[in-house]
Amino acid sequence: MNRKYRKTIIAGNWKMNKLPSEARSFVDELRALMPRTKTCDTVICAPYAIIPNLSRAIKDSRIAVGAQDVSTHDSGAYTGEVNIAMLSDLGVKYCIVGHSERRAYHGETDTDVNVKVHKLLEAGIIPIICVGESLEQRERDLTIEFVAYQVKSALYGLEPKDIKRCVIAYEPIWAIGTGKTATAEQAEEVCGAIRAVIRSMFDARVARAVSILYGGSMNAKNCDELLAQPDIDGGLIGGASLKTADFARIITGTVSAPPVLPELNREEGRGE
Ligand code: PGA
Repeated sequence: MNRKYRKTIIAGNWKMNKLPSEARSFVDELRALMPRTKTCDTVICAPYAIIPNLSRAIKDSRIAVGAQDVSTHDSGAYTGEVNIAMLSDLGVKYCIVGHSERRAYHGETDTDVNVKVHKLLEAGIIPIICVGESLEQRERDLTIEFVAYQVKSALYGLEPKDIKRCVIAYEPIWAIGTGKTATAEQAEEVCGAIRAVIRSMFDARVARAVSILYGGSMNAKNCDELLAQPDIDGGLIGGASLKTADFARIITGTVSAPPVLPELNREEGRGE
């Protein structure tokens, strides 16, 4: 984490879990367990059907609502789709794009991701752009190359001021929902490489302003080590975001993780 230059964000991804009627009690319980002072931006990315109830439940709290996907279309004859205007109208502040489950089961492409990122930013919604390699790619030593490609295509055509508003989530596919977390070193290596890609596309100032999250079996036990890494600015949390105690523990983990100073020197040194 590096609070001096960028936000720390803990975002829950409920996936297709919970009911609209459960939103209120979850938020009330979570608020009671959250640290008294704000240590990070807390987000819950809920299924569309739960968003209205969740938006009401988080009113006057430090929690923001996120969506898990959005249509590439603005409006019209697209049965089953939900557009950005609808999300804005419901007070949605963040939206996941390019989650590996959407890429794998719903054919979301890098082009779709790029279109959604542009449109979300225009509407003032922060995209949480998911990238990450398969086990096969990792074993073939293609991780950095593949993730760099995903990042470049997601950010294609954006201005530096827009890039600074994007959030990137590094989620190795083999670690999602499997209980197999990347080690802190593995996660830091790729998150650092993502920042280097942004630096090469723009400059050090832009790169240091982007929050990069880790996702993939992050939980109450392993969060501290992951959050202590210089290029990991928070988490995108699936399973552990469904239980208030676990999710609150991860949020609290952002209090204890020390600011990591060597990174400042490393970044300051590069072509600003
Ligand atoms: P997980 O999911 O924490 O259950 O592995 C993370 C995600 O898919 O965003």
